[in-house]
Amino acid sequence: MRLRALFEPKRVALIGASSTQGKIGNAILENLRAAFQGEIIPINPRTRKMAGLPCYPAISTVAGEIDLAVIAVPAPKVPDLLRECGEKGVSAAIVISSGFKETGDEGRRLEEKLVETATKYDIRLLGPNCLGIISPKVGLNTTFGHRMAHPGQVAVISQSGAFCTALLEWAWTKGLGFSRFISLGNKAILDEADFLDDLKEDPETSVVLAYIEGIDEGKRFIDVARRLTRQKPLIVLKAGHTTAGAHAACSHTGAMAGSERAYRAAFDKCGAIQAGTVEELLDYARTLSSQPLLRSNRIAVVTNAGGPGVLASDAIEKEGLNMAHLSENTLKRLKGSLPTAASVNNPVDTIGGTPPQIYHRALQIVLSDENVDGALALSAPAAIISFPELAKVATEVQNESGKPILCSFMAEDIGEEARGILDLGGVPHYFDPARAARSLAVLHKYAQQKDRVNETPKHFPCSRTKVERIIRHNYSEGTSALGLPGLEIFHAYGIKTPVGGIACSIEQAQQIAATISGPVVMKLISPKLIHKSDVGGVLLNIEETAVANGYQRLIEIARGQDVEQGGVLVQQQLTGGQELIIGMSRDPQFGPVLMFGLGGIYVEVIEDVGFALSPIGRNEARRMVESIRGFPVLTGLRGGKGVDLDGVIEVILRVSQLVEDFPEIEELDINPLLAFPEAVYAADVRLRLRNKGTNQ
Ligand code: COA
Repeated sequence: MRLRALFEPKRVALIGASSTQGKIGNAILENLRAAFQGEIIPINPRTRKMAGLPCYPAISTVAGEIDLAVIAVPAPKVPDLLRECGEKGVSAAIVISSGFKETGDEGRRLEEKLVETATKYDIRLLGPNCLGIISPKVGLNTTFGHRMAHPGQVAVISQSGAFCTALLEWAWTKGLGFSRFISLGNKAILDEADFLDDLKEDPETSVVLAYIEGIDEGKRFIDVARRLTRQKPLIVLKAGHTTAGAHAACSHTGAMAGSERAYRAAFDKCGAIQAGTVEELLDYARTLSSQPLLRSNRIAVVTNAGGPGVLASDAIEKEGLNMAHLSENTLKRLKGSLPTAASVNNPVDTIGGTPPQIYHRALQIVLSDENVDGALALSAPAAIISFPELAKVATEVQNESGKPILCSFMAEDIGEEARGILDLGGVPHYFDPARAARSLAVLHKYAQQKDRVNETPKHFPCSRTKVERIIRHNYSEGTSALGLPGLEIFHAYGIKTPVGGIACSIEQAQQIAATISGPVVMKLISPKLIHKSDVGGVLLNIEETAVANGYQRLIEIARGQDVEQGGVLVQQQLTGGQELIIGMSRDPQFGPVLMFGLGGIYVEVIEDVGFALSPIGRNEARRMVESIRGFPVLTGLRGGKGVDLDGVIEVILRVSQLVEDFPEIEELDINPLLAFPEAVYAADVRLRLRNKGTNQ
């Protein structure tokens, strides 16, 4: 393990150790002294003894090897002290001090010096401006917080020191244990990806929680996190919302993608579970660290109260789980074991007042059913109901069955005894059945994500040189926004477009129309007109005899708008297809973000779209298509024929290949992509090239 010196050091030097109470150097010293199993070496030039330990004026004066140095002196002194650590051969350092890049130019210069030194001496540097780490296994606490962490299996990585202390406080009272606690600070050298990589190998860690405000190296994060989530769950809470479409976007995708969606797509790509709130983060951590995963999504509810049983059933369905269909044998066994007034169908209601033995029996029977993957054990308070007894039942049956059980005992306080039994037995419990259902769903979600096969995107033979030529031509003309002429680019990448061509005169327009059977669509081409339908620049259903008129009308519109025109596109009129949108916009951290959804003019109003990061594989593309609310429209409503879904997916894959091949393409939309039962066509496109000379 590359970071062993940080988490399992034998000798730790504290530079800036202080005997003055209230100082950070003193609080860290006390936290180290509280439980650290190794040697603590205070460094302070003002004294030779501190807290009963020999104190040294400088790290260079200490004999023997030092694994970890914790530095807590004012920022301007830190670069020299880190250099001394390097000269001494210290493997890892934590800089607690603030006053670096978060404060401006001077701080940034200081931080650059730290990076230089850490790189030169190969020091694993955490911080600066961080709270440090807690590694309960060796009793190491380098923070100045007022809590140690209980040992456990959950590792925490946080970009906020305050979030760390708040979480520690909460966990202390709830008995949640941690394997490691890491406050990242400014991430001068070590960042979240380094720790995820290390935690993958850590046998003490079974679940990783990450509080993230921003990621600098998106691709590396995805790569490392992907490898981690194949072995253990990663639960992410992302803070800091950025408004969608911060840049002046020319495409719908650019306007809608935004950094939050890119983050969500990135977490999805690496198989991380996303928590929306701190409560969810902790619920998921508890559940995933204590319960087996759900093999499938069939849940049984066992209750001694009717109403909450119905509530729980609703919540289960809402979370995308299914209420299990109990087998005939189970129903028979339940009938034989429960009072006659009980309901043996799922939700199984043992009715109020039944003794715990009956509840026990019911839970045992349903969990032994092959059709049941997990259970929600419910109870409402009553004078004759003992929560401790029911808590015992839940933990026992969970152990016997090896299937997950979560509890919802609907009382504000279920009492210390019941709480203790459930906590010790690792059975998460909540007042609200909806919260229990949400946690159960995570056991299923992670099981599915874990088994996702990492796909290698298919490579299609395409005419790269043609696209290169078009891009070069546009750069030489000084155009970056391509409207209809961009159709050629998609054509070169094997995406079908309606039959037609560009006309620069009435005669040409008529000639093109004559080669097309049926009415045509005529569209004004102008690099300056992004939303051409808004000014009447699109004419539909034009018969051959009306083509000349149409051409003239469009040219007059261009004149009226005082914009340059590049001719008129005369295209076959396709009718009856489903209007879809496929697009891409580049995110500074994660690269191309692909979008798919219901298209046409309502796209931004309805916003029924899904996002995924490129490069994308077939299964991932399919998931994106299936994720939109309107998916049933694509498979065919009321006996109607569905659209060519494989064709739609293939367009997504080809667009992904295009934007991977050409980083010059900054954003694009195919809107509408007209989808028919047998084929799909890019009817209109919009594409913007990166300004020449700018990097991605
Ligand atoms: N080597 C070792 N010790 C040294 C030293 C050196 N070269 N130079 C000074 N010291 C000693 C000081 O004498 C002092 O000890 P003392 O109390 O015995 O006098 C101790 O180091 C601390 O130095 P001091 O100048 O008193 O600083 P401070 O305690 O007021 O503040 C920090 C230091 C690091 C706590 C402060 O600069 C800081 O950054 N605070 C914010 C920390 C933070 O919020 N981090 C982010 C958390 S998320």
